[in-house]
Amino acid sequence: MRAPLTVDEVAAELTYPLRQAVLRPDGGDVVWAGDEHPATVHLAARTGDRIVGVVRFSPAACPWRSAEHPWQLRGMATDPEVRGSGAGRALVVAGLEAVAARGGDLLWCDARVAAVGFYERMGFTVVTGEFDKPGIGPHRGMLVGITSRSS
Ligand SMILES: CC(C)(COP(=O)(O)OP(=O)(O)OC[C@H]1O[C@@H](n2cnc3c(N)ncnc32)[C@H](O)[C@@H]1OP(=O)(O)O)[C@@H](O)C(=O)NCCC(=O)NCCS
Repeated sequence: MRAPLTVDEVAAELTYPLRQAVLRPDGGDVVWAGDEHPATVHLAARTGDRIVGVVRFSPAACPWRSAEHPWQLRGMATDPEVRGSGAGRALVVAGLEAVAARGGDLLWCDARVAAVGFYERMGFTVVTGEFDKPGIGPHRGMLVGITSRSS
């Protein structure tokens, strides 16, 4: 039986192996500007001791919509062995909570076209046509509004 899934905030370097394997399999850099910024939040999903999903959230101006406290989602990746079992959803849900708790009012991302349906399931809306990221492929801009907590 598989261990239950947990999601926790982690140090940036713990997210690098999955970033490498899933997002930069051809050897591209997985250490990105802002990874060590104190406001940046890195999340890892685990089953037992094994990291099966990673994502990062950081404050960043949205290219397509004005917002007072916009945040960017980057580096979203789950282990191919666990896809479809809720790890991606758990990471986005936990990230939306973390961003809301820090006063964020909008979350945006450059979504790989193959992942657009995933982000739509998470409540994001497509706001751009396709654009190319050299060496990575076609993307679309997506965003979701965040209702801040009153408590
Ligand atoms: C996109 C990705 C993170 C999804 O992770 P996952 O662990 O499979 O996601 P989940 O199992 O939590 O899926 C949540 C929901 O989205 C759906 N879904 C997952 N991937 C999808 C996709 N590519 N297209 C459409 N729907 C998708 C699931 O069926 C599930 O639907 P439900 O609401 O009916 O349960 C994963 O496929 C991945 O790492 N892909 C390669 C890297 C990548 O493209 N990252 C995004 C870069 S922008």
